Amino acid sequence: VVRTVQACREYRETLRAEATRPPSVAVVMTMGALHAGHSSLIRSARASSTHLFVTLFVNPAQFGPQEDLKRYPRTEDDDLRRCAQLGVDCVFAPDRVEEMYPPSRLGRWPTTVEVTCGRATHHRGSEGASRPGFFVGVATVVCKLLHIVQPDVAWFGAKDAQQCCIVRRMVRDLNMSVEVREAPTVREPDGVALSSRNRYLTPAERACAPTIYEALRAGQEVWATRCAECARDGRGLRRSDLCVVLQVVAQRLRQQPALRVIYVSAADVDEWTDWGTILGEEDGLNAPVLTDRDEEIGEEVREVALCVAAWLGGARLIDNVRLMVP
Ligand code: PAJ
Repeated sequence: VVRTVQACREYRETLRAEATRPPSVAVVMTMGALHAGHSSLIRSARASSTHLFVTLFVNPAQFGPQEDLKRYPRTEDDDLRRCAQLGVDCVFAPDRVEEMYPPSRLGRWPTTVEVTCGRATHHRGSEGASRPGFFVGVATVVCKLLHIVQPDVAWFGAKDAQQCCIVRRMVRDLNMSVEVREAPTVREPDGVALSSRNRYLTPAERACAPTIYEALRAGQEVWATRCAECARDGRGLRRSDLCVVLQVVAQRLRQQPALRVIYVSAADVDEWTDWGTILGEEDGLNAPVLTDRDEEIGEEVREVALCVAAWLGGARLIDNVRLMVP
């Protein structure tokens, strides 16, 4: 376990010095409170590299002023035990915010990274619009951790689909020499995606949580039917086909009154362009936000993330499934 940037760098240097053949170094970045979803990511990284770093840092820059930074679960002893069991070589766990964000008279974070691909950070049905500043905080800390650890491969979970998209874009646009890899979402037997925030749910709320994945699966089924119909009729898939899927998901979610939907959206995984969004009731909108033209989904779109963000009690939950574009 290393606590400082310098100690982390020194350890990284020993790998370079000792290696008889070039080491392949992987990193899994986390905010701690590790669960089976993190473990699966760590296992994937472990299996494909000679050396594995895990970072544990609750990054204040990605929390809004009204968000759960203070109460975000912190379970470091358990996290370290889990890392040891999983064969992690080095855990970088800075215990002071100043270690990651050197104090400055210029304000809290004078240097940041902002990725605006496909208007990803601000189109309506996106984590960026829903959580202002969130992706600046994520891109900045991921960029910093990549510089500190200098991995060959960095692993991210498909559960945070837009985060994966933004990290990929940053790495490409800023010429960072690291391979970004994605691991599948790990779920409970009833379909609920594992998340550190599930700890905020009461048993009664937890019982309502499976609706999110059920709704997404219903959307996937409708998409498969649409794809088959289009193939039969010899026509291309259009934005309106995705909007039918969004309506089905929203309808299913509305049957569970405990859920307060923030958005249901469809975005392509490479650029995060908005292919349709239904905003929750809090935004006073229940119809899909459609652009003027019912565009055909072009060949450049190979995979669309069908996403949901919703409040359940005091927990803000997100989930997504993928729709393949044939
Ligand atoms: P955190 O929420 O701790 O997640 C760390 C990593 O675990 C992310 O790549 C996330 O996508 C992945 N993950 C979370 N739940 C998962 C699940 N059920 N199945 C598979 N993977 C899952 O994401 C962050 O932290 C932060 O934004 C971070 C990248 C560390 C920057 O601060």
